[in-house]
This record gives sequence, structure tokens and C-alpha cells, in this order.
Amino acid sequence: MIREPLPHDSAALHVAGEARYVDDLPEPPGTLYAALGMSSQAHARIRRLDVAPVRAAQGVIAVLTAADLPAANNIGPVLPDEPALASELVQFRGQPLFAVAASSVELARRAARLAQVEYEPLAPVVTVEQALEKKQFVLPSARVARGDMAALGAAKHRLQGRLRSGAQEHFYLEGQVALAIPGERGEMLVHSSTQHPTEVQHLVAAALGVPDALVTVEVRRMGGGFGGKETQAAVYAIAAALLSRATGRAVKLRVDRDDDMVGTGKRHDFIYDYRAGFDDTGRLEALDLMLASRCGLSADLSGAVNDRAMSHCDNGYFLPNVTVESHRCKTNTVSATAFRGFGGPQGMFAIESIMAGIARRLDLDPLDVRKRNFYGAAPRNVTHYGQTLQDFILPELVEELERRADYRRRRDAVKAFNAASPLVKKGLALTPVKFGISFTALPMNQAGALVHLYTDGSVHLNHGGTEMGQGLFIKVAQIVAEELGVEIGRVHITATSTGKVPNTSPTAASSGTDVNGEAARDACRKLKARLAPFREKNPDASFAQIVRDAYFARVSLSATGYWRTPEIHFDRATWKGSPFFYYAYGAAVSEVAVDVLTGESRLLRADLLHDAGRSLNPAIDRGQIEGGFIQGMGWLTMEEVVWDAKGTLLTHAPSTYKIPVAGDCPPVFNTWLWERGENVRDIVYRSKAVGEPPLMLALSVYHAIYEAVGATSASREPVPLEAPATPEAILKAIHAMR
Ligand code: MTE
Ligand code: MOS
Repeated sequence: MIREPLPHDSAALHVAGEARYVDDLPEPPGTLYAALGMSSQAHARIRRLDVAPVRAAQGVIAVLTAADLPAANNIGPVLPDEPALASELVQFRGQPLFAVAASSVELARRAARLAQVEYEPLAPVVTVEQALEKKQFVLPSARVARGDMAALGAAKHRLQGRLRSGAQEHFYLEGQVALAIPGERGEMLVHSSTQHPTEVQHLVAAALGVPDALVTVEVRRMGGGFGGKETQAAVYAIAAALLSRATGRAVKLRVDRDDDMVGTGKRHDFIYDYRAGFDDTGRLEALDLMLASRCGLSADLSGAVNDRAMSHCDNGYFLPNVTVESHRCKTNTVSATAFRGFGGPQGMFAIESIMAGIARRLDLDPLDVRKRNFYGAAPRNVTHYGQTLQDFILPELVEELERRADYRRRRDAVKAFNAASPLVKKGLALTPVKFGISFTALPMNQAGALVHLYTDGSVHLNHGGTEMGQGLFIKVAQIVAEELGVEIGRVHITATSTGKVPNTSPTAASSGTDVNGEAARDACRKLKARLAPFREKNPDASFAQIVRDAYFARVSLSATGYWRTPEIHFDRATWKGSPFFYYAYGAAVSEVAVDVLTGESRLLRADLLHDAGRSLNPAIDRGQIEGGFIQGMGWLTMEEVVWDAKGTLLTHAPSTYKIPVAGDCPPVFNTWLWERGENVRDIVYRSKAVGEPPLMLALSVYHAIYEAVGATSASREPVPLEAPATPEAILKAIHAMR
């Protein structure tokens, strides 16, 4: 069962339109529809909030402001620093001020626009630079250091500069949505499109002022999450639940796409200041790196995201003498949140740009500079935060990809092409990925599962992970089928529910299969042990017969399973430890063409080689690799999030925000799983997590553009190309180099 390229369990339902999302569920009679009233200012005191016109509007049944809330008014998942509904102070444009329930979606949305709000405007802090200048942070700054920074002054060559990487909108196809159904004695059932049912349960219970046990959160699937539903589903679930409590009726809140884009957090955009010292061969001797990110008004997950940026600013490279400082900037923008890679892509962006800059300064092939800086034998096998690498396979993997993608020959061809082509420049780049697997927050590295056997031999599978399209459910079902020795068709996958498996972690950090798969395995082993005596007596009987025999002998046919990741540890005070259970690896070669007059670029060919360990499901893994790569390409080349000086999000709709489409996929697109891949850790049959790491393969697209733009000038300075490398950014870089 494991290792088979089975299709996604819902593939047929997806294409037939039969897969049910929250908005497709049958509605209880009398269901009401909700909308949120949002702030039109980014930073202001509220002098007066008059919702009388909202209440008086057609079809309106209930309106709630902060003053009407029965208990906690908070959606902060880590720190209680963000209200569900703002009352005295608004801190970003689009912040919820009140919630309205009406007899139709249309009427609720129309009524939500009728409130009279008097603001006393305050100066907004919108950019990272402004926040840095004011030292305005959502969390204390952090620092990790190793070695002796005197090496920087002593180095033969030095490079310094400022870099930028952009934010990114998740653009899940299914927007944020919740359906709250009231029960008796204060019970509340919430269908939420969330990666973190337990957190939604806790925040809804706190908002209602009831014990957690009264609230059940259920998720069958999401139409994409990408990190955007790890914390940010909560406000919609809370609003629906509060309105449901106030009216005694079911309430559904489905957010309009524009409001979703304005009201939910994005990937953190970063600025970086660096000083690097290196030798004649391009080997780094010292690095001083400052990271600063736009976190928005509240902490949300910014602590862990920025920590991961710090722990991934080495990518695959040994940093002998290094200082990394990280500032978490507080701005009057929506709270930035998790996004595939969780700060890792942003950390890796910095070091890859530095590698490219070094190669340019020394006129070397960037691949040679990258290889020269790879981790290696002791003492070059310890990260800047103190983790010893156990299976650093990038040298072999990169070697293999270099050969398969014909890197050297094509690089020569690109050079020859560029020499003869003044208006179109090509670029080719190979970049590696090393990504640490485990939650940065230690307690989250645990999971539970629940498996029932019925007397007809069918299997009911439940666990704490959520399905967002990534294929978690089919992988765990394969594991269960394998452990129990039954065909996959017997295993019935069921919706995630806080009532079945409690105290779950979010499905995130790519750990879904690792932790939930092991928990399900644990449950299956218990059941197998209980069935064993019956199997012994009856070796040839069907699985159903064995289960029936056990039932008649009064043996329990239901088991919970549990997993917690062993060995990992990390001390945030010293910023040292071994926070990752293992690392996933990959590499990619991209070739682009850039039009020097318009700044347009096209990806012509991509070759991806990715390490999914001993893949549990090569079909699913391939989908994750290709999808992640294209999503990463969007982040680095075309998806531009723009706020104006007043804090208004200008890119608030598909009309102003461009994501990659089928036509942006390269005409030559090779994806290979690393066949020699095998997890050094004995987890889920030596496979590796695959959800996030491939996104960072797209750094090769950015660097191919970097090379193409670099070919327009003989300068030895780093190419001043900001990410995303939009046509505008490309033209800016070309002009700056003239
Ligand atoms: N793939 C699809 N199709 N949809 C998604 O929302 N989310 C990504 C990744 N792949 C996502 C996806 C993110 S951000 C993570 S952390 C992982 O899937 C989560 O699932 P896993 O832990 O089961 O890999
Ligand atoms: Mo993924 S960003 O860890 O939800």
C-alpha cells in the first residue's frame, strides 16, 4: 500500500464538483448569513461607532460590536494582542469592527457598509523602514552568533548591501468560511476551513465564555490553506459562533474575495542588510546579517516565522563566523502570518543572493561558489544554531541534477546566446534547498489518531491532521492499510474533529504525515496486537472474520494512537540546539529569457530533483513538488503585494494581484524524486515531509533572472534586483546597472 502512486482520495470528487467544502454543507433550517464591518482607516482612534443604520437595514437580525461580546475579545494565538472586534483603536485598514447577521449573504454584506464611524486619524507606520526607525516591534528582537566577527575585517574580499523580498497572498481557492450550529446547554458545532481546528475551538470557547468541551470544530477539507488558515480562520469562526449564540440560529460567514485579501495576513516581506567577507575562491569567511520583517499590528505567528528565517539563512552553506539579528516590525497593516515555508524561504533568499553576489564579484560560476560553501565534514557540519547535520546529501544531489539538466553545457550556450543578443538575455541558475522538519514551537510536535474496526471489516480512520489538498489523508490511509494488512478501499477517511482527537497541533510545518501517520500507526499496532491471537487460530480467515471473532470474544475494536517527536530540543535564550528532527533536500535548475526593453521574463525550462525520502506516494509527492515550485515562482517573480503610504492594500483583488497560471508553467518541466532518498530517521517508513520544501526550489527562477539581468552589464557589483522580479523590478535593476 505504501509507496504506491495512488490518486488523491478526493480527486474524483474534486473534478466532479462533489467534494464538499463548508459552503456546500446542507444548511440547517433558518440559517443566517454574516458579514463583518471593517475599518476604513489603518491607524485611528474610534470616536464613535454607530451601528443603528446597520440594525435598521433590511433583513438584519443581529449586530454585535466589541461592547456586546460576552467574554474574551481576542484572536491572538500566541499573545493575546489582537481583538476579534476593535473598539477604541483600529490598527490596520480592514480590521473588523462589528459583525452582522442577516437573512441573506447579500443583505448582510450590504448592511455591513452602513455603519457610521468617526475616526480620529493617527499617523500610520506602514513600512519596515518606518518601524525600524521607530524601533516599533511586535516581539523582542533575536540574535544568533557563532565564531569571531573579526574575520569580516580580515577577509580579502568584502561585499555589503541591502536586499528585499516581497510579501505573498495565499490565494487559496476556497476563501475563509465558517458555519456555526448551536446545540443545547451552550454547545456549539463549528465547521471551519482551518488548518488548526483545536485553536479555533479554544478561541471560540473563550469568546463564548464556555469550556472547551462545549465547542466542537470539524473540518473535512479546505480548498487550500498554504499557511493562511493556520491562525487566520479564527476571527470568522468566532464571529459566526457569537452571532449564532446571540440568535439561537445557525450562522454562516463566507468572506468575499476582496475582503479576504484585505482582512487576512500574508507572507512576511523582509529587508536584509548584510556584510560578507570571503576568500579568492568565494568561500565565506564571515557574515553579518540583519533581517527585518513586516509583521503587521500583532504577533500572530511572527515569532516562529522569523525564528525560522534565522535558522534557514544558511540554506546549505557553512557559516563559520556569523551574526544574525532579527527584528519583528510592528506596522499598521494586517498581521502577517504563516505561508508555505514559514520564514524559511525568506531566510534562504538572503544567503542565495549573497552567493550570487560573491560569484559576480569574483567572476565565477555561481554554482561553483555555492558548492564551495556547502556543509561538509566536521567541523563544517554544524549549523549556526548548533545542530549537527546527519545526512547532508546536497553535494551528491546537486551533482546528479547538474548532470541530468546538462547545466554546464547549457550555461555555455546561454553565454553564447547573450553575446549575440542585445535585447533578449537568457539566464540559467541552479539553487539548492535544505529545509528543517519539525515545528519551531516544541510542544506542537505531537499528534493523535483514532481508528475503529467494524465487524464487516471496514476501518474508520481519524486523526488530528487536516486535508487542504496536499494529500495527507491518502498517505495516512495508506499507512493504515499497510499496518493492518488490508486493501486501501477498506479504510474510510473521516473529517477532522476536535471531538474525536483532542489537543491537536495545526497541520503545518510539513509535518502532517510524519506525526499523524505515526499516531495512526500506533493505533493500528494496538489493534493488530489485539487481533493477533484470532489470526493465529485462523490463519486463512478474511480480515472481516478475524474482526468478528475478536468482537464475539469481547475485545475492544477501537484504539487511539499517539506520537511525539523524540530528541529535538532548542534553547531560545542561547539560540542553540537541535530543533529539527531531520532535513529535507532538493535542487532546481531554471532557465529564463528576459526582454531588456520591457522587463518581461519567461521561464523556459525547469529541472527539479527533490528528496522525499523513500516516498510514501510518488504521485502525491510529485504534485507537491511541482505545485510548490510554481507557487514559489509566483512569490519571486509576479505576485506583488502593495500597500500605499496610508496603509491601504492596493492589490486587493485578482484584478490587481497576479498569480501564476497554467500558461506560466515552463514548456520543459522535469520533476524527479531523488531515488536514493531515505530518511535517516525511522519515521513513516523512511519517507520525508514534502509540503513546503519544494517552494524554495523556485529560488532558481529568481536567480536565473538575476543572471539574465546581470548579463546586461559588465559591472562586478551585485545585481540590484528586488523580489518579486516583476517587469518593473527587472527594468529598475537594468537601469540601475547602466
Ligand atoms: N498543498 C496544497 N495542495 N494545498 C495547501 O494548502 N499547504 C502547504 C503544503 N502543501 C498546501 C499544500 C503547507 S503551507 C504545508 S505546511 C503543508 O502542505 C501541510 O501539509 P502536510 O504537513 O501534510 O505536508
Ligand atoms: Mo504551512 S506555512 O506550515 O501551514
